[in-house]
Amino acid sequence: MTDSRSFLEASIPELIKKLTVNEKIDLLGAPNWWNTSPIDRLKIPSIRMSDGPNGVRGSSHFVSTPSQCLPCATSLAATFDPQLIHEAGAFLAQEAKTKSSVVLLAPTCNIPRSPLGGRAFESFSEDPHLSGVMAAAYVNGLQSEGVSATIKHFVANDQEHERTAAESVMSERALREIYLYPFMLAQKHAKPGAFMTAYGRIGGLHCSENPTLLQGILRDEWKFNGIVMSDWFGTYGVSEPLNAGLDLEMPGPPRWRTPVLIHHSLTAQKLLLPTINERVTNLLTFIQQQAKRNPDIVYGDGVERSRDSPEARQFCRRLAAEGMVLLRNQRDTLPISQVKQIAVIGPHVQERIISGGGSAALKPTYVTTPWQGIQNAVPKGVTTVYTVGCYAHKYLPTLENNLTTPDGKSGWLCTFYNQDANGKPTKAVADFILNDTRVKLNDFLPSGLADEWTIKLSGKLMVETSGLYELGLTVAGRAKLFVDGKLTIDNWTKQTPGDFFYGQGTIEETAVIELKAKSAVDILVVYTNTSPIDDGPDDEVAASQPALMRGVRLGGCPKIDPDQAIQEAVDLAAKSDVVIYIGGLTPEWESEGFDRPSLQLPGRQDELITKLSRANPNTVVCIQAGSAVSMPWVDDVNGIIQAWYSGNEAGNALADVLFGKINPSGRLPLTLPVRIEDVPSHLCTRSENGKIHYREDLFVGYKHYQARYIKPLFSFGHGLSYTKFELLRVGCAMLSEQPFGLEVSITVKNIGSTTGSEVIQVYVAYPQRHLIHPKLQLKGFAKARDLRPGSSTTVTIKLDKYAVSYWDESSHKWVASAGEYGLSFGTSCDNIALESKFEVKETFSWLEL
Ligand code: BGC
Repeated sequence: MTDSRSFLEASIPELIKKLTVNEKIDLLGAPNWWNTSPIDRLKIPSIRMSDGPNGVRGSSHFVSTPSQCLPCATSLAATFDPQLIHEAGAFLAQEAKTKSSVVLLAPTCNIPRSPLGGRAFESFSEDPHLSGVMAAAYVNGLQSEGVSATIKHFVANDQEHERTAAESVMSERALREIYLYPFMLAQKHAKPGAFMTAYGRIGGLHCSENPTLLQGILRDEWKFNGIVMSDWFGTYGVSEPLNAGLDLEMPGPPRWRTPVLIHHSLTAQKLLLPTINERVTNLLTFIQQQAKRNPDIVYGDGVERSRDSPEARQFCRRLAAEGMVLLRNQRDTLPISQVKQIAVIGPHVQERIISGGGSAALKPTYVTTPWQGIQNAVPKGVTTVYTVGCYAHKYLPTLENNLTTPDGKSGWLCTFYNQDANGKPTKAVADFILNDTRVKLNDFLPSGLADEWTIKLSGKLMVETSGLYELGLTVAGRAKLFVDGKLTIDNWTKQTPGDFFYGQGTIEETAVIELKAKSAVDILVVYTNTSPIDDGPDDEVAASQPALMRGVRLGGCPKIDPDQAIQEAVDLAAKSDVVIYIGGLTPEWESEGFDRPSLQLPGRQDELITKLSRANPNTVVCIQAGSAVSMPWVDDVNGIIQAWYSGNEAGNALADVLFGKINPSGRLPLTLPVRIEDVPSHLCTRSENGKIHYREDLFVGYKHYQARYIKPLFSFGHGLSYTKFELLRVGCAMLSEQPFGLEVSITVKNIGSTTGSEVIQVYVAYPQRHLIHPKLQLKGFAKARDLRPGSSTTVTIKLDKYAVSYWDESSHKWVASAGEYGLSFGTSCDNIALESKFEVKETFSWLEL
């Protein structure tokens, strides 16, 4: 052991004795956004963490090293395949290490109680069992390669409105049986190294300073012994969070864990040294564990690299295709065959829609767009024609692919300047070439900058086709756009607040200019971080956002005549044998920081799809979105694929399903409602007077639709295949009464003519006596893989005490009541093929996992 690595074998109690109080304070906060604090004197290294969850972004939003982008969590859950998600976790661990990171800030396993929740795409499922099984598989895969998970957000960050303030008000049962449940299963089956607290409150107290959650449930009851960190800017005090059990304030430099504030609390005995020592012990144990597992990374060069191999591409492609859900396939329109001309229409055809927005977003190594995927897959002799049909963006598409730096490199040049007393840029401090026209400055600033500074972003813009172009400038700070030296957009002197950058920016200001094909114009964006939007009157002060967001975004695209664009699409549809429509939502519509206003597809997509289906009923609609959208045209089109945000292989994976290279086997991890009024949390999704009332209680997702006999658009668990299956018989064997164990077996046969996979779902019905329980609760599932036509297989599923227990609010324990339980076996919660039952002979209760 070299002296520089002596920490790997050091005794933590001995280190605690040697650390000064100020060094301990350093350890409890972070030096920056992504690292723990090193203590060089005692050879304590820093370890790096990174977002999560659908890839590993690395430690800079500003100049990030490209990564592989995996599908969003709803897509992962739609595979209903924990083994595959384990592989995804292991894949992400390799990605983390290429970014010199040993902690991933993932998975997210909150519950999308409303499809409008901004981060619904980032959580696995409305069902707590499916969420927990997927979260455990993800964590096990990640940690099998030595990278620690940070399961988040503990607990009940289920929508974004007033997320740092709102109290999630719910019954003890709902908290235990729905919202804590995925975390509990992950802790039971995978033991994540770290937990991240949610921004909001439970039981009146913020999660990051909630002793019942952090000490009572997590540490005492669940025996968690890793670290707890706050969400970014989600620490709201000095002594309360430390006393409650929050080990690490994130990000750094700390707002609260400073020598002045901590010494003040120690003097006032609001905080005691043994508490500080306990938190530091947790942190050092965690850092040591991660350093031992990854010495070459922790003591490595710290460089962030990209990985892009054929195997990695293949894995991303398979994972993405496995998550796609075939919702509808009338007249076997899919897979596409025997056609001469395919019209590919829609706002996403040529766009790079790979993930939802916010901290999950990352810069991909490459993207295959749907158009490229279709071009790669289309059989010889078949013509493909494209037109956009309509736009559906919230902000104009980014322009990096059309920009070169003043000296001809791809991207644009970003130069930082300090300012003089009048706010005029003075000396250039640093230069960077950026390959993104979304410039985020929250986690990175070059050294040598004063508090107030300017950046100038310059480049040459060139387009392929002559015509009118709309340009847009959005900012958190202030910015102006000059084209060929002429002021074209002023988002500086007069600003309108919007939801850009977690709600701290403006709306997009736009202008129309004329551009000539292949003839470059000079683009200059001048940005300053000074005087952001003024605080409004009292009732307009944004209470929900982490501060310090700085950024600017330039977008643009050809200006279209919306009526003419629809007409062109309809004409093309009428002339073609099949229409593939590709649209949905984008990271600007579905993102951390705000909730969606409605289920409706943005732009004129509904109108366009309806018109296309009239022109050609052989229309297949592919929806790229992380959650549900309404589909008023559902009965008019022949095919529908829920394609999610499926990462950088989005285009190839979609083509694999469209052309039958992959037989779809994804199943819905959430109910798709007909209309927003049907959603269980409708009318109680937003925070009112600081509280979000979870009035639907236990009846989240399909449990609500079943209890109230509301027919959804598509049910939880639904998904079609290019073949057909039949569930032939079930068996049920009690393994033991105490501890409870039941094994069920289901025989499934492929009665169609193509090889395919089916997901068999097991729902349990509790005895309904003095307490009301949801009619059916998913408690097990299995995927019968690659069944050949005519063949059958038997899958077995074990049910344990979790499958029969509810949270008893009087004894504060899990209880399984004696009685008869129903078992329903099906291929969705509303397509039950076989039933059975079993008995729990004696009531039992439990608390420890
Ligand atoms: C998100 C977390 C994320 C963190 C760091 C926060 O805004 O809520 O999920 O890990 O930022 O990016």
